[in-house]
Amino acid sequence: MLPAKPYLQSVCIRPDAEVDFDRYPYNIPAIREMGRLEFHPDVTFLVGENGSGKSTLLEGIAVALGYSPEGGTRDFAVGSTDSVSPLHEVLRLARSFRQPKDGYFLRAESFFNVATFVDDVGVPDAYGTDSLHGISHGEAFMSLLAHKFRGKGLYLLDEPEAALSPNRQLAALSAIHQLVEDKSQFIIATHSPILLSYPHAKIVLFDGTGLSEVAYEDTEHYAVTHDFLNNYRARLDRLLDQD
Ligand SMILES: Nc1ncnc2c1ncn2[C@@H]1O[C@H](COP(=O)(O)OP(=O)(O)OP(=O)(O)O)[C@@H](O)[C@H]1O
Ligand SMILES: [Mg+2]
Repeated sequence: MLPAKPYLQSVCIRPDAEVDFDRYPYNIPAIREMGRLEFHPDVTFLVGENGSGKSTLLEGIAVALGYSPEGGTRDFAVGSTDSVSPLHEVLRLARSFRQPKDGYFLRAESFFNVATFVDDVGVPDAYGTDSLHGISHGEAFMSLLAHKFRGKGLYLLDEPEAALSPNRQLAALSAIHQLVEDKSQFIIATHSPILLSYPHAKIVLFDGTGLSEVAYEDTEHYAVTHDFLNNYRARLDRLLDQD
């Protein structure tokens, strides 16, 4: 039998698309040079410097799949499309014969708006709480992972660690693993060296040359954090030395 996962196999810019490489978003080097990005059946991490294009691509994929650019489930109609880049119009997504049974697009930066929407329309039961506004940002995210994500799903997360303490990041890893075991696929833009350690994953680096796969211990996230924590006094002395 053919494997059901990955639900999302690959993404590229349609070769016949007419794009202006001098304008956003095609002027972002990693987007211009992206080629074909093949997804891991379990977890694909998007990493790279601030401004390297991770959110732009994740949003493009999400909107092409039918999500609101502000995030949420596909039933949510939050936010205006004015601020959305036109990338979704030119993306070609290769999908599995099997549809995911669940899905979510999380943008840390607009999670508040989604929480407002949840409050307004009232879909509280699935979240395991009456209101996502009555709990902290991190608690709300963990509530999503534990109660809202039902498995057999395709989940797109943009910097989920923004809300989470180190301990909760470990708990999130465990929750992600359970969902992966229940036939889920994740695409996660992150700066978290904790999340990036997840072994059933492919790490894709966004830089000026395009997109490339990188091993966990070769990521800047691992190397810089590891070096800093092991030598923080010496590193601080050099960083903060005013003379
Ligand atoms: N609406 C827009 N119009 C023009 N440029 C934009 C727009 N949105 C983002 N950009 C630019 O596109 C580039 C990529 O932004 P993007 O948000 O995708 O980066 P990122 O890799 O997600 O960064 P971070 O790690 O900081 O979240 C940045 O230089 C940003 O300033
Ligand atoms: Mg981003």
